[in-house]
Amino acid sequence: MNGFTFQCGTKMIFGRETELCVGEELRRQGASRVLFVYGGSSIKKSGLYDTVVKALEKAGLFFLELPGVVPNPRVSLVREGIEICRREKIDFLLAVGGGSVIDSCKAISFGVYYDGDVWDLISGKVRPGQERIPVGDILTLPAAGSEESDSCVISDETILVKAGFGSPLMRPVFSIMNPELTYTLPPYQTACGCMDIMAHAMERYFSPTPDVEMTDRVTEAILTTVIHNLPIALAEPENYAARAEIMLCGTWAQNDMTGCGRIQDWFNHGLEHQISGFYDIAHGAGLAISFPAWMEYLCEKKECVPKLAQYAVRVWNAEMNFEDPARTAREGCKRLKNLIREAGLPLTLREAGVGNERFEEIADNMTDGGSRTCGSFYQMGREDIRKLLGRME
Ligand code: NZQ
Ligand code: ZN
Repeated sequence: MNGFTFQCGTKMIFGRETELCVGEELRRQGASRVLFVYGGSSIKKSGLYDTVVKALEKAGLFFLELPGVVPNPRVSLVREGIEICRREKIDFLLAVGGGSVIDSCKAISFGVYYDGDVWDLISGKVRPGQERIPVGDILTLPAAGSEESDSCVISDETILVKAGFGSPLMRPVFSIMNPELTYTLPPYQTACGCMDIMAHAMERYFSPTPDVEMTDRVTEAILTTVIHNLPIALAEPENYAARAEIMLCGTWAQNDMTGCGRIQDWFNHGLEHQISGFYDIAHGAGLAISFPAWMEYLCEKKECVPKLAQYAVRVWNAEMNFEDPARTAREGCKRLKNLIREAGLPLTLREAGVGNERFEEIADNMTDGGSRTCGSFYQMGREDIRKLLGRME
């Protein structure tokens, strides 16, 4: 286990009807002028919008609204939010929605204090400073884990680039998590969310760092809990127990608790961000295509087989084949693919409407034209990425 520093100060307020306390909580955090940010129509249909407005009014808070965040959130709306915050002297950002809404708030929160264009921060050209407007959220979609993570991901729709930046100060100050608010999720979003949660767990699990048993075991618990509860949530959308388990997994998979003391991989997220930057597909769907294909590719690499076999045995109850551990490893991939298929997610790029015309560009972007590798569990070079994309087709 490597040395590490871990600090996550997000106050998690979890359970039924917790959204009713949002006004009080904002007051407690010292908010007085709030920007209430949300996406499309889902919170209006579910009634959450009215609940939030009432709670803010009851708490006597001044607030403005910024609706219109879309999946794979756009930098244009972030710029709009920054202008509103400056003009209206906003002192708190309230995100109500999924990862895209929370990420937009995070980018606005730092962008307000940066004199240049916020894309400089998002693209990594300039490092974020120490000042930001605090962000709090009411989570409606367990997936991205942005409710406790220290990063955000934003797209520039004009140049088809999706990029992310982070800061230890970026974690929301509070996150209100009522599993009942996820009952209205369409099955596809529930499945995409679970795939993203599993991916966050696996990006950390598949690590070259030895002696990380505690965090391995916690990650396995997250994975087995999602695997057990996803089919239940799909069959019974209003099953509180299943929704609650998934919601807690979503946060703990991505607040970096399980990343402590280890080198992480993140190859699949890098690849998925390329794909959704170009083709605007759901993040979880992109991961459903890339993760099993990447795992299968690595079953052919001797040094990766022991960990892949451990995953197959502990997470998927596969039987260990001591004579041919690669076989065990492949069984883990097969069972993951079955889950993805049964959850109604794509397993190939074609099923997601993605062609092969950008394969070369993606392989070049991820390796700076072949001059570096990507990932740590296995270092993927340009040729590896080309081959992998071919298998994902
Ligand atoms: O816009 P509305 O109408 O609200 O609909 C949303 C949206 O269309 C809908 N939705 C959300 N909650 C709902 C609901 N529909 C019905 N009932 C509810 N309770 O779901 C759709 C997708 O929402 P979105 O926020 O885009 O999904 P998600 O939470 O999966 O976030 C994805 C974004 O997060 C980024 C991804 O790249 C992607 O841009 N990520 C952020 C990370 C982070 N900050 O730590 C890490 C992740 O790896 C990820 O990259
Ligand atoms: Zn993700």
